[in-house]
Amino acid sequence: MIHFHRVSVEYPRTKTMALYNVNMAVKKGEFVFLVGHSGAGKSTLLSLVLKRLEPTSGAVYVAGQSLASLRGRRVALHRRNVGMVFQDHRLLDDLTVEENLAFVLRVLGVERSAWKKRIIRVLRTVGIAHKRRAYPYQLSVGEAQRVAIARAIIGRPPVVLADEPTGNLDPENAVQVLEIFKAIHAAGTTVIIATHSRELVEAYPQRVVVLRAGQVVRDEKGGHYTL
Ligand SMILES: Nc1ncnc2c1ncn2[C@@H]1O[C@H](COP(=O)(O)OP(=O)(O)O)[C@@H](O)[C@H]1O
Ligand SMILES: [Mg+2]
Repeated sequence: MIHFHRVSVEYPRTKTMALYNVNMAVKKGEFVFLVGHSGAGKSTLLSLVLKRLEPTSGAVYVAGQSLASLRGRRVALHRRNVGMVFQDHRLLDDLTVEENLAFVLRVLGVERSAWKKRIIRVLRTVGIAHKRRAYPYQLSVGEAQRVAIARAIIGRPPVVLADEPTGNLDPENAVQVLEIFKAIHAAGTTVIIATHSRELVEAYPQRVVVLRAGQVVRDEKGGHYTL
């Protein structure tokens, strides 16, 4: 589903090598934790999958297609296939929960008559259908993050990426958010989560890819790793 072939990224302004010769493949339906110290290159790697960033050398393939060849409208179409969750929820502050989700459905061109059902269903999946009329400022951090996940999956993308999705959450909320990602994975979605949290990784023993200073230094199954 996702394939990194000898990918390096240098940020020109600072001459930082954020990734160096990364080779990695993630199969359809796989769940991967991407771990490493701050500055190891996790966010950079996820940005490449979204084509928010171009590699300095090497190539990134998603669903067999080289991202380098995508232009214009095809970039937008590609991004629809990749749901993204960040550490902060990034919801639109002046829209309610259901309006935030309707906004996505409008962009996706989903017929208006189907919106309500889709929104209720996805909010049930993340466990906060009762908050659908609330504004983001009326939500707890954990609730807002669940809405952010709902927004990422409402378009039913085959791939979901999350960058430190539990970074702002207490342990209890972190576990609940992980449960949602488990359910997304169980439904057949390919999931990559960048995280600092050993608790998270150990709570769901899956493949762990360890980045150190821009290089993949370990790639193991079973939730155990050393940085
Ligand atoms: N926009 C940028 N411009 C310059 N350097 C950057 C930029 N983004 C990240 N970096 C650098 O690239 C390296 C990898 O960063 P990042 O991918 O954010 O790591 P992580 O997400 O693992 O903390 C770090 O040294 C960071 O300082
Ligand atoms: Mg990061």
